[in-house]
Amino acid sequence: MSRMRVAVLISGRGSNMAALIEAAKDKSYPAEISLVLSNRPDAGGLVTARANGIATAIVDHKLFGKDRAAVDAAMQQVLEAHRIDIVCLAGFMRLLSPGFVGQWQNRMLNIHPALLPAFKGLDTHKRAIEAGAKRHGATVHFVVPEMDAGPIIMQGAVAVRPDDTEEALAARVLAVEHRIYPAALRLVAENRVSVIDGRCLIDGAPVPDAETLMTQT
Ligand code: GAR
Repeated sequence: MSRMRVAVLISGRGSNMAALIEAAKDKSYPAEISLVLSNRPDAGGLVTARANGIATAIVDHKLFGKDRAAVDAAMQQVLEAHRIDIVCLAGFMRLLSPGFVGQWQNRMLNIHPALLPAFKGLDTHKRAIEAGAKRHGATVHFVVPEMDAGPIIMQGAVAVRPDDTEEALAARVLAVEHRIYPAALRLVAENRVSVIDGRCLIDGAPVPDAETLMTQT
């Protein structure tokens, strides 16, 4: 069976991208990483992608002024040229226009370093500690026009320790991110995820605990 063609969109170091590349090295994984696209020419992840023999592209938003629609059109053109089926945002730090998001409805995933809907936006680890949260983690979700919203595919949680620092907590959450992103993409690439009333079903059923699911698949 031919594998789904995935583009990973990055802005920085690309450790989640690297986790997806590693997972896709297994030929039985249902997706291949066909393209890494960055909005920043200096993103560290581009070096990793090239070292793995993966096609890279840069759509530098700074060259487009304030014209967000033109940036997104340029990205769409690159994605189409590479016959992409699924888009994975992995530390891609730009808002996307509703038109672009609409073109990838239920085919574009994002990873966010918090248990959504808590702690949308930036500095999630610092805010979780300051709020006294006992559990924190990461979420893979489908992208909708609203930032850090959209149907949740998978979450992974860690306990927040009383003496946690932002760095220590971030490192434990990042390890979770690297597990759940490949697992969530696998489900989507296998066409096992559907969205009903804004919620994800897996194999047609609600899944109460994605961590449990991860250990089963
Ligand atoms: C990751 O922690 C990801 O969850 C976060 O940026 C980091 C990128 O790291 N994304 C967001 O905050 C998006 N709202 P990486 O480049 O090493 O994957």
